[in-house]
Amino acid sequence: MSKKNSSVHYNEYLDLDKILDAQTPLSKAGNNEAHEEMLFIIIHQTYELWFKQIIHEIDSVMALLSRQKMDEENVGLVVGRFDRVNKILEVLVKQLDILETMTALDFLDFRNYLSPASGFQSHQFRKIEVMLGLKINKRHQFGGCPYHDQFTGEKKEEILEIEKDTSLFTLVEKWLERIPFLNMEGYDFIDQYKSSVVEMLKNEIAVINSSILSDSDKTIRIKMIEENRKYFDNIFDEKNHLKSIEDGLTKLSYKATMSALLINLYREQPILQLPYKFLRQLVETDHKISLWRFRHVQMVEKMLGQKIGTGGSSGQGYLKKTVDQHRLFEDIANIATLMISREYLPELPKNIKQKLSFNFTNKKI
Ligand code: HEM
Repeated sequence: MSKKNSSVHYNEYLDLDKILDAQTPLSKAGNNEAHEEMLFIIIHQTYELWFKQIIHEIDSVMALLSRQKMDEENVGLVVGRFDRVNKILEVLVKQLDILETMTALDFLDFRNYLSPASGFQSHQFRKIEVMLGLKINKRHQFGGCPYHDQFTGEKKEEILEIEKDTSLFTLVEKWLERIPFLNMEGYDFIDQYKSSVVEMLKNEIAVINSSILSDSDKTIRIKMIEENRKYFDNIFDEKNHLKSIEDGLTKLSYKATMSALLINLYREQPILQLPYKFLRQLVETDHKISLWRFRHVQMVEKMLGQKIGTGGSSGQGYLKKTVDQHRLFEDIANIATLMISREYLPELPKNIKQKLSFNFTNKKI
């Protein structure tokens, strides 16, 4: 039986007194009230509330992915929750428009009061980055200080613990490695895909040779295709892939990359539709965070120009570097490089196709 508390009031349920009493403009306390400081505080607080919701969603997705076996129902949940994360991120990018109604001059009315506080010290923002899989050695650091030097006590311990924990990136990698479709009932996906690539490149060369291009143009284009072949050869060779990981050029394991490729190529098969959506959403999350970083730098440029940040960084110089360097799921986005057109896509054998379909039947088994 459900417990109903009929006496709960809107105000108490949402703890509004606490929340609405939490805006304390320092310029007011300094008897020099700056009108815009209220907006500055409220915008940051709403960001932190949304960060909390994002962490709540990522936490639950990580718990589902940690299970050895994820059934279709759970893939649906993961997709739904990541869709929500991405919608929140869209709002977070858009919110900067509101803050930009404040001018650089308005900001200077109270900037001195808040120094050395900075968004750089947002614990929840760091939690999101680390949970998703941003490793400390991949970060752009300023002043030779690790980002977690901004925290002390429990907050520092918590972030260091999350650094050690398995990240969402690793959970996705393991999930892709577990997907059983690379080798099924004698059908070897990688072998079939390799043959298709070889045929595709052979045909591309034949088309160039039979074209009206001059001999020197033909040589240049064929050389480009040979370069392309080297790229594919590199991908097919597991040892080369491992070397790319060691050299920091890629992160996703060979097996996970091949599974992601299979999901992308055969995404129209019913059983692969949700996994495909999930992979797309991860790329979207990555893009939306980069977009936020980029919009935040643009705003910083308008507010500060070349001034240094209150957190002590070079300001926009530091922030610009993070836009690309702090990306997480590029390997999944880069699967597009390995895509081949439908005319070369190996036809799946009937028994495999059936396995990848929803097998509802009214027949008694
Ligand atoms: C007038 C508005 C703002 C200015 C001028 C500004 C400026 C800066 C600067 C210069 C930095 C680099 C660190 C430093 O030296 O302080 C920074 C970092 C950061 N800011 Fe802002 N910021 C503004 C608004 C916001 C808002 C609304 C948020 C939302 C939470 C935010 C979140 C962050 C975060 C998370 C970082 C760390 C980014 C990273 O290290 O990758 N900032 N900000």
